[in-house]
Amino acid sequence: MKSNSALVGGLTGVVGAAVLGIGLTAGAAAAQGKPISELYLDRCAVCHAADGTGKTAKGRKLKVEDVRKTVVKLTVAQMIEVTTKGKAPDMDAFGKEFSADQIKQLVDYYRDLAKK
Ligand code: HEC
Repeated sequence: MKSNSALVGGLTGVVGAAVLGIGLTAGAAAAQGKPISELYLDRCAVCHAADGTGKTAKGRKLKVEDVRKTVVKLTVAQMIEVTTKGKAPDMDAFGKEFSADQIKQLVDYYRDLAKK
């Protein structure tokens, strides 16, 4: 993976964002610079819904809970743990894709949805 990220960095410098669009989008390199709301919509909302209710086709199937219920049950640290390590069997771990800082921000964003 080391050489791969060096490659991404090199290409980004030379050819710019267009190259990233062709298929090197996976990973934190591509996620950098995107607003957290966009990352949430991209990677979480398919199951947790844009409004955090979990009421999407996939969310219903996997019995995703409404953030309004989970926000009072789980601490920020616990949610960071779930997001980093995933929750078997249905939620993937995001610890490789996002930095610790991005995960903290995603959890903050997600918890804030409970106030809306
Ligand atoms: C493939 C569907 C799926 C995706 C995508 C997904 N989750 Fe989950 N998530 C689940 C399921 C299923 C659970 C376990 C049921 C529950 O607790 O709601 C869960 C639980 C959680 C929990 C703990 C309990 C809760 O529901 O609040 C947090 C926090 C969470 N996910 C955050 C995220 C974040 C942040 C992302 C995006 C980076 C994300 N999830 C992406 C399916 C998903």
